[in-house]
This record gives sequence, C-alpha cells and structure tokens, in this order.
Amino acid sequence: MKIISAKDYNDMSKKAADLMAAQVIVKPNCVLGLATGSTPIGLYKELIRRYEEGELDFSEVSTVNLDEYCGLTKESDQSYAYFMEHNLFCGINIDRANTNIPNGANPDAAGECARYDEVLRKTPADIQLLGIGNNGHIGFNEPADGFAVGTHQVMLTESTINANARFFAKKEDVPRSAYTMGVAGIMSAKKILLVASGEAKAPIMKEVAVGPVCPQVPASVLRLHPDVTIVADEAALSVLRESNPELISK
Ligand code: GLP
Repeated sequence: MKIISAKDYNDMSKKAADLMAAQVIVKPNCVLGLATGSTPIGLYKELIRRYEEGELDFSEVSTVNLDEYCGLTKESDQSYAYFMEHNLFCGINIDRANTNIPNGANPDAAGECARYDEVLRKTPADIQLLGIGNNGHIGFNEPADGFAVGTHQVMLTESTINANARFFAKKEDVPRSAYTMGVAGIMSAKKILLVASGEAKAPIMKEVAVGPVCPQVPASVLRLHPDVTIVADEAALSVLRESNPELISK
C-alpha cells in the first residue's frame, strides 16, 4: 500500500487524476472503476479538463461503478447514476453503453446483484477508484462482523445516513439501503486508488494503514491487495503522520 500525501484537496485531485489519466493513456480501452461522494468531484473535473485540452480520449473506455441507492431511478437527482452523468460522463466522450452502475430501481435484489456480478466478471476494472466513509466503508460495504464477498444489498448505518444527509433535502429522504460491489468485486481490480480529504477522515486513515485487517474497518482489507495507492491530503493524513510518518511518501 503506497500512501501519497497531497497539500490540499486540489493537489489530491490532480495527483489522483494523474494516475487515472495514465491508465487511459496506456490502455485506451481500459475499464475504470468509479466512485461517488464529494471527494472524487475534483478528480473528475480534472479528467474533464484534460479531455477538453485533448490529452485524454474516453471513446473506448468502459466503467463500472461501485454502488447505488436502492429505490432511486437513474433520473432521480440523488442517484449515483445521476451523479456520474453530471459530474463526469457529460463532460467526456464516453459511450454511455459502456458505463455500468447497479440499477437501484430494480426491486429484485438477488437478481440485480447477480446481474452486476456478471458485469464485473466480464468487465473487471483495470483501476478502481474509491472514496472512504468516516467509518471505513468502501462503496457501501459497511462495518460488519464479516466481509461480504459479492455484490449485495446492504442496510446503511446511522453514521452513513447522517454523513450523506447533506446531499438530501432532509435526513428522512436518504434511502435506507443500497446495492454495492462486495469485497471480491473491489479486490478483483488490477489496481486500486483511494482518495481521502479532510480532518474527519484522519482517524480512519490511520486504522486503514496500521490497524487490524478486519470487517469492522472494511477499507482495511485493501492491505491484502498487491497494488493500492492512497492519495490523501495533509488533513486526512494528520493522525497517521503523528504515529507513522515513515509510511507516507511525498
Ligand atoms: C458514500 C459512497 C462512498 C464514498 C463515501 C464518502 O457513502 N457510497 O463510495 O466513499 O460516501 O463520501 P465523501 O467522499 O463525500 O466523504
């Protein structure tokens, strides 16, 4: 696990965009695993800027997204499908037919999860982008007594509902469940890139880097993956830097 420190949010976004852009340049028909949340927005803006300047071509790229709220259609402005359309896809030349997101409007959880695992089997990510929840969740793999392997429906924890309430008119509007890639889907990516920003993530970043690998801190499982890069700003690395500065590269 390589941990790269960035000065601030903008610097984090640029450094992380460098890695995603390199993937698209070396393999134009690559599969990008994508994430939502506020953290990747700057990175997506940077990819759009590089596309507009002619540095990047997404015409052959495919994508697989981590997760989606249950009960929201892709037209709902709170859905992750809507988020991806408005924060990335609308700004680049990607073929929408090559983009994949779990269908939150499908009430048949078993059917939807099986369909998505088949998508992941056929379209494994070359690089999977991840954010991280304050409680260590990745995608919507919440702290639990065991790791969930395949794509599954998960009940969101109170901590995640509270954290994500800022995107909704009121807390009661936050969906109570989501479909998410499981640990196998995430870990099957050839490379993983996790981005983190801000003080609120600092305690969990230390847990991920040096705490036990356990399902109570879902992101800790990344320590078992051979090619993980974390790009985090100074604020997100502040607690880890106090205890283990040697783990952080410039
Ligand atoms: C949501 C998403 C996660 C994301 C997390 C953190 O719960 N399902 O994929 O990593 O939020 O979001 P933020 O980047 O806004 O802190």
